[in-house]
Amino acid sequence: MRTLTGITPTGPVHIGNYFGAMRPAIEAQAQGDCFYFIADYHSMTSITDPHERLANTRAVAVDWLACGLDPVKSVFWRQSDLPEVCELTWLIGSLTPMGLLERAHGYKDKTAKGISPNFGLFAYPVLMAADILLYDTNAVPVGQDQKQHLEMTRDIAAKFNQTYGETFVVPEPVIRRDCGNIPGLDGQKMSKSYGNTLEIFADEKALRKKIMSIVMDSRTPAEPKPDAERNICVQFLKLLAPSDVAADYEARLRAGGLGYGDLKKGLFEHFWAFFAPARARRAELLANPDYVDQVLRDGAARARSVAAGVIRRARKAAGLE
Ligand code: ADP
Ligand code: TRP
Repeated sequence: MRTLTGITPTGPVHIGNYFGAMRPAIEAQAQGDCFYFIADYHSMTSITDPHERLANTRAVAVDWLACGLDPVKSVFWRQSDLPEVCELTWLIGSLTPMGLLERAHGYKDKTAKGISPNFGLFAYPVLMAADILLYDTNAVPVGQDQKQHLEMTRDIAAKFNQTYGETFVVPEPVIRRDCGNIPGLDGQKMSKSYGNTLEIFADEKALRKKIMSIVMDSRTPAEPKPDAERNICVQFLKLLAPSDVAADYEARLRAGGLGYGDLKKGLFEHFWAFFAPARARRAELLANPDYVDQVLRDGAARARSVAAGVIRRARKAAGLE
């Protein structure tokens, strides 16, 4: 049973990414056979600065390794190190109906916003299907927003199999019900694009400032707060502090007597402690860029040993060799 997912290198990771995507992926390593890659080809529709792409790719690699991605247990590589995926994009793209791609939410949302579409944006779901099919993937953990892309992948795989004979494994999406929607500082979904994030590797001063300036209501500390479970700091504490500690904060807020300043200080302390081990590993990784390069190179070699067989199978099926 092979699990695969792609990580777009678009900026610093936040606790929404951590609890929604990184932690489940890292925990899945216990079951083995995990394939994780940095989707730098996919970043080409949103980033056009080559230095930014390279820097983001490295930063994402470091952050995932720091958070517990184990390159011995998992195959971890950079998408563009296996350009075979572009060849497969062509093979399957030649069977993908225009209508299917025109219905893609990502494409429709971007064009509705006035972004002038290019081939890359239109073909994005085909490249994503190639990512998945190239490695005989069984399960793809993704957020709700990627569900349609997985359905397209399944359609494309079935079409190829029908046309050229059984070639690809048809993958299943794995969509989490819990932790799928971590709120941001303003109560909307936490997202880089809303500027409402808590970055997991923010420096101490910036993080403290961000937490201390979370907007609360104007009730006095002494007032009981019967809606304590809806308080954003309480919600974060439930993720970041031991459960009895988080429950104690919630109870004290509910009863009255705990001020928002003290609640926020508590949140900062627990946030800082929660990510302390990852922060230490990250500092080591940042000091050792050669190691990170080596991990991605080894990962690419392991990924290629699977991809080579699949691309061969697809080429043969389609009469390209
Ligand atoms: P962002 O919305 O900040 O740009 P991405 O789209 O890069 O985040 O998401 C990367 C991964 O993190 C995806 O798997 C996505 O489902 C997950 N993710 C992002 N924001 C959240 C959130 N607020 N709660 C849970 N998971 C999230
Ligand atoms: N499109 C995905 C996202 O924006 C990233 C991605 C690229 C991906 N290729 C993939 C995810 C293959 C799962 C499988 O989050």
